[in-house]
Amino acid sequence: MAVATAAALLAALGGALWLAARRLAGPRVPSLRGGGDPGLMNGKTVLITGANSGLGRATAAELLRLGARVIMGCRDRERAEEAAGQLRRELSEAAGAGELVVRELDLASLRSVRAFCREVLQEEPRLDVLINNAGIFQCPYTKTEDGFEMQFGVNHLGHFLLTNLLLGLLKNSAPSRIVVVSSKLYKYGDINFEDLNSEQSYNKSFCYSRSKLANILFTRELARRLEGTNVTVNVLHPGIVRTNLGRHIHIPLLVKPLFNLVSWAFFKTPVEGAQTSIYLASSPEVEGVSGRYFGDCKEEELLPKAMDESVARKLWDISEVMVGILK
Ligand SMILES: NC(=O)c1ccc[n+]([C@@H]2O[C@H](COP(=O)([O-])OP(=O)(O)OC[C@H]3O[C@@H](n4cnc5c(N)ncnc54)[C@H](OP(=O)(O)O)[C@@H]3O)[C@@H](O)[C@H]2O)c1
Ligand SMILES: *[C@@H]1O[C@H](CO)[C@@H](O)[C@H](O)[C@H]1NC(C)=O
Ligand SMILES: *[C@@H]1O[C@H](CO)[C@@H](O)[C@H](O)[C@H]1NC(C)=O
Repeated sequence: MAVATAAALLAALGGALWLAARRLAGPRVPSLRGGGDPGLMNGKTVLITGANSGLGRATAAELLRLGARVIMGCRDRERAEEAAGQLRRELSEAAGAGELVVRELDLASLRSVRAFCREVLQEEPRLDVLINNAGIFQCPYTKTEDGFEMQFGVNHLGHFLLTNLLLGLLKNSAPSRIVVVSSKLYKYGDINFEDLNSEQSYNKSFCYSRSKLANILFTRELARRLEGTNVTVNVLHPGIVRTNLGRHIHIPLLVKPLFNLVSWAFFKTPVEGAQTSIYLASSPEVEGVSGRYFGDCKEEELLPKAMDESVARKLWDISEVMVGILK
C-alpha cells in the first residue's frame, strides 16, 4: 500500500516536472511577425469588443503600445474601467503609446449595440480596425434581450449588427480592416436554419461551435460584399488560451489543481493567443488580404462547410431579418 502511494506520488511529481520543463522550454508561438515597431498604429483607431479580459485585453495592450487609439467595447463598465486603468499603468512607461477609451457595449442587446454605434459614429471621426473578439462559451441555456440563443446572439448576431452599423465609417476610413475571432471548434457546428434559437433542443457545445462557424461564414460573405472597397475582413482561431472563457465550465474541486497544472503547461498565455489578432490588425504583410482564415499568424485551410457560399448568403439574409436591418 505504502509502496503504491509512493509510486503514485513519484509519478505525479515526475509528470509535474515534465510539464514545467515543457512550459519553460519557450513560447510555442512565433513572436509577432510583420513588425511590432512602436508607431506602426499611430493615428489609427481600433475598436475591440470584449477588451477587458483575456485575448481582447492582450490585443488592446499591444495595439496601444503600437500607438493606436483603442476603444474598448465592454458590457460591464466597472470591469472595463479597471482593466483600462491597469493597461494605462502598464503602458505609462512606453513612449508613443496610444489612447484608451471605454464605451459600453452589450452584444446580448440589439438596443445596446445600436446605442453604442450611434455614440461611435457621433464621436469618432474614423475607424481603421474593428476586432470582433468578445465571446461567450458553453453557457447554460439563456436568451438575449431580443430572444436569441445566447451564444448565437452574442458571438454572431450582436457582432453582425455592430459590423453593419459601422461599415460606413470603416469604408470612409479605408484602407481599413475587420478582424473576427473564431475557433477551431467551428468544425463541430452546423447552421441548422430550422432552429437557430435552439428552442427545440439545446446542446451548449453544438451552439458554441455553430456560433463560431457563423463567424467564419459571416467573414467570407462580408469579404465578398466588400470587394473593391479597400476594407478587408479576415477570421482567425487563437488556439487554446488560458482566459476567463471557461467560466461556465464546472470543474470538480479535486480535479482543479490538475486542470490548472495542465492548462498552465499546455495552454497559451493571453499574450501568445492574441498574436494572430494583432497580426491581422496591424501587419503590413496582410494589407489587401481578405476573406481568409488564420492561425498562429499563418493562413490555414477551412473545411468545405465553412466555405459554402450558399449557406453563407442564407445566413447573412436571415441575420439581417433577425437584427432588423433588412433594407
Ligand atoms: N480562450 C480560448 O481558448 C479560445 C479558443 C478559441 C476561441 N476563443 C475566442 O476568443 C474570444 C475571446 O475570448 P477569451 O478567451 O479572451 O475569453 P474571456 O476572457 O472570457 O473574454 C471574453 C470577453 O467577451 C466579453 N463578453 C461576453 N459576453 C459579452 C456581451 N454580451 N457583450 C459584450 N461583451 C461580452 C467578456 O466580457 P465580461 O468580462 O464582462 O464577461 C470578455 O471581455 C472569444 O470570441 C472566444 O470564442 C477563445
Ligand atoms: C452536442 O454537440 C456536440 C458537438 O456538435 C456533439 O459532439 C455531441 O455529441 C452533442 N451531444 C448530445 C448529447 O447530443
Ligand atoms: C483603394 O486603394 C487603392 C490604392 O491605394 C486606390 O487606388 C483606390 O482608389 C482605393 N479604392 C477605394 C474604393 O477607395
